[in-house]
Amino acid sequence: MSLSVGIHDLSFATGEFVLPHTALAEYNGTEIGKYHLGIGQESMSVPAADEDIVTMAAAAAAPIVARHGTDKIRTVVFATESSIDQAKAAGIYVHSLIGLPSATRVVELKQACYGATAALQFAIGLVRRDPAQQVLVIASDVSKYDLDSPGEATQGAAAVAMLVSADPALVRIEDPSGLFTADVMDFWRPNYRDTALVDGHESIGAYLQAVEGSWKDYTEQGGRSLEEFAAFCYHQPFTKMAYKAHRHLLNYCGHDTDQHDIDRAIGHTTAYNRVIGNSYTASVYLGLAALLDRSEDLTGRPVAFLSYGSGSVAEFFAGTVVAGYKDHLRTEANREAIDRRKPVDYAGYRELHEHKLPADGGDHANPEQTTGPFRLAGISGHKRIYTKR
Ligand code: COA
Repeated sequence: MSLSVGIHDLSFATGEFVLPHTALAEYNGTEIGKYHLGIGQESMSVPAADEDIVTMAAAAAAPIVARHGTDKIRTVVFATESSIDQAKAAGIYVHSLIGLPSATRVVELKQACYGATAALQFAIGLVRRDPAQQVLVIASDVSKYDLDSPGEATQGAAAVAMLVSADPALVRIEDPSGLFTADVMDFWRPNYRDTALVDGHESIGAYLQAVEGSWKDYTEQGGRSLEEFAAFCYHQPFTKMAYKAHRHLLNYCGHDTDQHDIDRAIGHTTAYNRVIGNSYTASVYLGLAALLDRSEDLTGRPVAFLSYGSGSVAEFFAGTVVAGYKDHLRTEANREAIDRRKPVDYAGYRELHEHKLPADGGDHANPEQTTGPFRLAGISGHKRIYTKR
């Protein structure tokens, strides 16, 4: 029998503040149905001025280290598309903040919202090479579009940390993967911009093409048939996208697109993304967290994953939920991460959106806003200063 490798633990963190879509709708005169039903979003996480991808990542990863220790973790793969440095891997700050040993390799990976899936697959390869080792995979992103643009309603922020190991306690990842790459300009962020550029309608079409392409390859690689899956975790830039994608896949495979069946296949996976907003590369794994936390018993059931990153790369793969998984979930902590956020009004959100660390090389302290375990205290001589509570 081949070695069982997959997700042993999963923990997430999000920003300090939350902007309800009602506040955005009131400001820009949008009928709220467009947000609640049309794109399927209720609110979005907004990081405090003293939070970023590192503080969220450390907050997500710290409970994993607290539960499992650091002895077996020899690799950290940090996936992000909202990177803070062109050279240094953000994971090195996290490595220090959560006290990992020096005998660790740390690297950053990027391919839009797909990066965390590449990290997961590379981690599985490393564990296969030496099953005694564990890999800490972190996906952390702040989704930021221009103010007053159509993308503004699909922002958000979160970090997911996953411990990848042999004999995983949550989900065993299966071998066949369906792959798809196409050179499209649906979403991108040149190095000189803080906000992403997007052709929203093009990106929806590109995503659906990638669903078809990766599914086709998955079946050619000997994957499961559609009927075998208990649920489908899709990348969710906004939760309605998961519905569009699943309906598209069912159509492509010649299946009925009964709304009740679609709800049953993906409804639970949208619960966290609906209130957190787009967390880019973390989003598909927030979908998994919500599914495991909310679903009836999934023991032994296959779950499908469709990871899409604009530009574009997609991967369709499967995981089987492991017996006893419920004992290892972090359902209470996940609820707390969402419920602890403080509502921010539209003016406050706009101020945070425009907040930037000065680039003059001087000493600058950030306002003390976050109540989370880690802070971006400021910048000095172009060096970010992080602190731990
Ligand atoms: N009540 C209910 N639904 C409504 C509505 C109302 N009052 N008003 C509009 N809608 C629906 C529309 O019919 C549409 O649904 P459909 O897509 O099923 O046809 C949906 O709300 C969105 O409306 P649309 O006019 O397309 O919105 P938009 O031009 O503002 O663009 C996005 C929406 C998602 C494309 C835009 O927010 C965006 O660019 N986001 C960033 C890119 C992104 O997330 N891409 C995803 C792939 S990675």
